[in-house]
Amino acid sequence: MEISNQRYCIQEIPLLDVAKKYGTPVYVYDGEKILSQVEALKQAFSGVTMKIKYATKALSNLTILKLMRQAGTGVDAVSIEEVQLCMHAGFAAAEIMYTPNCVDFEEIKQAVELGVTINIDNIPMLEHFGTEYGPSVPLCIRLNPHILAGGNAKISVGHIDSKFGISILQLKHVLKIVQAYDLRVVGLHVHTGSDILDAEVFLKGAEILFDAAREFGQLEFLDFGGGFKVAYKDGDITTDIQDVGKKVSAAFQQFCKEYGKELEIWFEPGKFLVSECGYLLVKANVVKPTPATTFVGVDSGLNHLLRPMMYDAYHGVVNISKLDGPERVYTIVGYICETDTIAADRKLREVKEGDVLAIKNAGAYGYSMASNYNSRFRPAEVLLLHGRDHLIRKRETFEDLLKNQPTVDL
Ligand code: LLP
Repeated sequence: MEISNQRYCIQEIPLLDVAKKYGTPVYVYDGEKILSQVEALKQAFSGVTMKIKYATKALSNLTILKLMRQAGTGVDAVSIEEVQLCMHAGFAAAEIMYTPNCVDFEEIKQAVELGVTINIDNIPMLEHFGTEYGPSVPLCIRLNPHILAGGNAKISVGHIDSKFGISILQLKHVLKIVQAYDLRVVGLHVHTGSDILDAEVFLKGAEILFDAAREFGQLEFLDFGGGFKVAYKDGDITTDIQDVGKKVSAAFQQFCKEYGKELEIWFEPGKFLVSECGYLLVKANVVKPTPATTFVGVDSGLNHLLRPMMYDAYHGVVNISKLDGPERVYTIVGYICETDTIAADRKLREVKEGDVLAIKNAGAYGYSMASNYNSRFRPAEVLLLHGRDHLIRKRETFEDLLKNQPTVDL
C-alpha cells in the first residue's frame, strides 16, 4: 500500500474507491505482490529443482488458485475438498500434494482415484494403504521431526506432542510396513510449523529428512513444508529467504550427490505468498470513548478475521480515510457479541464514524478461516491485478444463510 495523490493506493488504485465500489467489509488482494513473492522464492534457490506447492488453506479463492497456477506453482491441499477446488482451478493431479490429517480412509481412496500425490501421516493409515494398494500407488510419508519451532504453540506442529506426522522414532516400524507391502515411497515430508524465522530450523529439518531418506531407495522428492515468517509489524524480522535458499540448496545438492540421484525439493508456503498481499477493509461504525479506552467499533470481527483472537496475532491497522492530522490511540473491536479485539492501543489518524480502516496481513488465514458467526455474511473478495479491480467472490446474502436449511413443518 503506497500513498499516491494523497490517497492510499495499491497499483495506483485508491483503496477507498474499492471500499466504495464493493462496500465494506471487503477483502482486497494485491495480485502483483503475490506474483513478486512467488518470484522471490524461486530466485532464492539455485542449482536444485525447487517446486512450490502453495498451501491452499491460507487463501483458497478459485481466482487466487488460478493466479498461482499461472505463476507456475503447484499446490498442497489438506482436504479432499481443497483437492477438488485445485483441480477446478486447473491444476493437474501431478501438481497436487494431498496432506490430510486424521481423515477417513475413504477420503484417501478418493484422492488416489483423482491421481494426486498422497502424503500419509500416521502408521495405521500406512498399513491400510499397504493392504489396499501395495506397490501400485506411489506415496509420500509425513514425518514428525521433533523440532519445536513456530510463532506460538498453536502453530508449532513438528514437536513430539504434535498430532501431525509419523514420529522419526517410529521410522523402523515405517520401514517394516514399507517392506511388508512393497510400498513405493517417492517422497518424504516434514512441516515444523508457521512463522519460522531461522534458516537453521529448515537445515535441522533437512538433516532429519536426509537421514530418513537414506533408508528409502526410490525417492523423487523431499518436501520441507511451509512456515516462512513474514512481517506483521513495521520492523519485524522475517525469514531471510535468500539465506534459507542458499543454505538449503547447498545442503540438498550435497545430499543428492550422496544419494546418487537429483531429487526435487518442495516447499509449501502459505503466509509467505499471500499474507502481505491482503487487506481487510472495514468501516468504523462507532467511535466510543470510555473512561479507560477509546474504542473503534467496526463492521467486522472474529467472524471475518479470527487470527487476533485465536493466536493473539498482530495486524497493522491504517485509517485510509485520513492521511494527515494528529494521531490518537484507539482499540479496534468487532461488532460480534464476543470480546473480539482486532487491535489494542493503536495509534491511528483521528477516526470518525464512517471512516474506512485497512487491516493488514489479511491475505493468509483471513477469509479462509471466516465464518457466519452471529449470522453475519462473509465479505466480498476483490483482486487487484495489472491496475484493475476484479470481484472474485461476492458478499454473501440472506439467501446464502438459508440455503442449506430445509423448511420443516413443526
Ligand atoms: N504445509 C503444511 C503441512 C501446513 O500444515 C501448513 C500450515 C503449511 C504448509 C503452510 O504454513 P505457512 O507457510 O502458511 O506458515 N492459521 C494459522 C496458521 C496455521 C498453519 C497451518 N498449517 C495462522 O493464521 O497463523
